[in-house]
Amino acid sequence: MSRALTDQITLAGRTAPARVIFGPHETNLAEGRLFSGRHVAYYERRARGGAGIVVTEVASVHRLDHPYERAPLAETNGDGWARIVAACRPHGTLVLAGLGHCGLQGSSAWSQSALQAPSRVPDPSTRELPAEMTGADIDAVIEGFRRAAAIAVAADADGVELDAGPTALLRQFLSGLTNHRVDEYGADRLLLLREVLTAVREELGTKRIVALRLSCDENAPWAGITPDAAAVWARDLAPHLDLLTVVRGGLYTPETYRPGAHTPETFNDELCRGISEAVDGAVPVVLQGSVVDPARAARALDGTCDMVEMTRAQIADPDLVRSIRDGREPRPCVRCNQACLVRDFRNPIVGCIGNAEAGHETRPPVRPTRATRDVMVVGGGPAGLEAARVLAERGHVSW
Ligand SMILES: Cc1cc2nc3c(=O)[nH]c(=O)nc-3n(C[C@H](O)[C@H](O)[C@H](O)COP(=O)(O)O)c2cc1C
Repeated sequence: MSRALTDQITLAGRTAPARVIFGPHETNLAEGRLFSGRHVAYYERRARGGAGIVVTEVASVHRLDHPYERAPLAETNGDGWARIVAACRPHGTLVLAGLGHCGLQGSSAWSQSALQAPSRVPDPSTRELPAEMTGADIDAVIEGFRRAAAIAVAADADGVELDAGPTALLRQFLSGLTNHRVDEYGADRLLLLREVLTAVREELGTKRIVALRLSCDENAPWAGITPDAAAVWARDLAPHLDLLTVVRGGLYTPETYRPGAHTPETFNDELCRGISEAVDGAVPVVLQGSVVDPARAARALDGTCDMVEMTRAQIADPDLVRSIRDGREPRPCVRCNQACLVRDFRNPIVGCIGNAEAGHETRPPVRPTRATRDVMVVGGGPAGLEAARVLAERGHVSW
């Protein structure tokens, strides 16, 4: 029988109400490095709209990792996670705490100290030259992941998602592009990830979800992670995981994470199918990357993946899953990357050209008024359509 986006799925004994994930992403909604009330409202809104799982903005597991000004810091965010969990749980949505470290792809601007990396390989986009991590530095990162996982457990999160994606230190250790070490972490490039997984599992036990976001193709076959290598790792790691999200990109191609409309929709289909075949049901697999069309997403559940990540689609329409349940077309994400691209020194708040409420969920909702009028809306672009929508919700007649 074919599977539907609105089907439940049980992971580590916890049931998500739908197979659609709101993936981890930068929002700039933090206050300093703390999750804010705006974060809570932002996630609650997607949970109310039916999201199966919310993965919170990746929090750094070590104080020295400070990739952008308002990047959450795990050690200070127990209360923030607890508030997000309390807001989402009544809707049945599972909450995973996103945990990571950007290594050489961070920024020294905020920490004012050298970036940490497996080897002294500069980031081609920032040209920052990192320091090679010592054994003690590596131990501190493992300990950071362990401590962060313990804090997420204390906050009653349903689990954690570990970031080994295109901007992550864990991926930098996996890749021949960035790991030139001559110690055991160079001889076995999977070692750090395995040690982190062991530490995190010790804190979570088997009744909470350990998810991994793994770059399975760095688009740099001469030394980078290839789909074939990733398939072998995925098979090795599957017994230790409850969920595996297949992503693409690395040192030279971090932008393949969330490309614009010039890249075809669901461009990771084939990559994801290869990983699903490799793990052969040992762990549920998630398709990520420009999954914006519910019909296409539903088709992917038959053979390519067990769940889909639809991040920008739910920034554009927080009621995406509810719309699918009700047989309505969701408000579309056109992959313009205009208002949701927020890595910028001006710290813009996450937003959406199609959804003026995205990032502003703490504002009072639009309510009907008794003093209705006829209003002419001039222009039928996104602003005119939004104006007409809000006017209609207020009870005005627009034409
Ligand atoms: C504003 C924004 C910021 C993002 N930042 C991160 C990030 O810091 N870490 C991460 O793992 N993914 C990040 N992503 C990637 C998303 O989690 C998701 O994988 C990506 O948007 C592709 O999925 P989509 O096409 O469904 O949006 C970001 C996405 C957006 C829209």
